[in-house]
Amino acid sequence: MSEWFETLPGLHDQVWQQLTHGAARRDVAARQPTLATISPDGWPEARTVVLRRAVADPAMLEVYTDTQSDKIASIAAHPRAALHFWEPALALQVRLQATVEVISGPTVADRWQELPDGALLSYGVTPPPGTTLPHALDYTKTPDQSRFCVLQLALGHIDVMHLGTYHRRASFSATDGWTGKWVSP
Ligand SMILES: Cc1cc2nc3c(=O)[nH]c(=O)nc-3n(C[C@H](O)[C@H](O)[C@H](O)COP(=O)(O)O)c2cc1C
Repeated sequence: MSEWFETLPGLHDQVWQQLTHGAARRDVAARQPTLATISPDGWPEARTVVLRRAVADPAMLEVYTDTQSDKIASIAAHPRAALHFWEPALALQVRLQATVEVISGPTVADRWQELPDGALLSYGVTPPPGTTLPHALDYTKTPDQSRFCVLQLALGHIDVMHLGTYHRRASFSATDGWTGKWVSP
């Protein structure tokens, strides 16, 4: 019986277990991955987000954000993103690449309604995120559904690194049906 990290299907399944847990629970690293985008002028930019939904087939993730945050302009200019997390309990690094679609309005009203009151405050800060303030607390937070949007990430590539006694790295692509291949770590 092989360990999950010794086979390509085992690694691929583990990635989706972590992503599925991340979307549902707070106690895994996949809950708060780093989302990287490319700014309109070509700079890499990375920030922590909460993973809200994970679907293995077709491979898709969802993250929620504010329509007035800078990442929306970045995604409009370059509709591509990378997502990263390191799960120390499994010695597992996961790196994902995706194309991104921004969805707002009635299509995502169900997601807004499911959010707890405290979370709604993240969508509707005045002035908009990134605006210079005279003092640190010179802003107000009022939930505003028109500012709520969903980043839908259609995954194209998954890179996995397991740091066990031996280091193993695998690369999976949508184009090869996620069968994957071993690559040098
Ligand atoms: C633990 C944690 C979770 C966060 N979750 C989200 C999130 O789910 N969505 C989001 O837009 N920003 C989230 N943020 C804030 C972002 O990291 C970032 O500061 C903000 O979105 C502005 O980024 P931008 O200027 O690149 O658009 C979170 C920050 C932390 C520290």
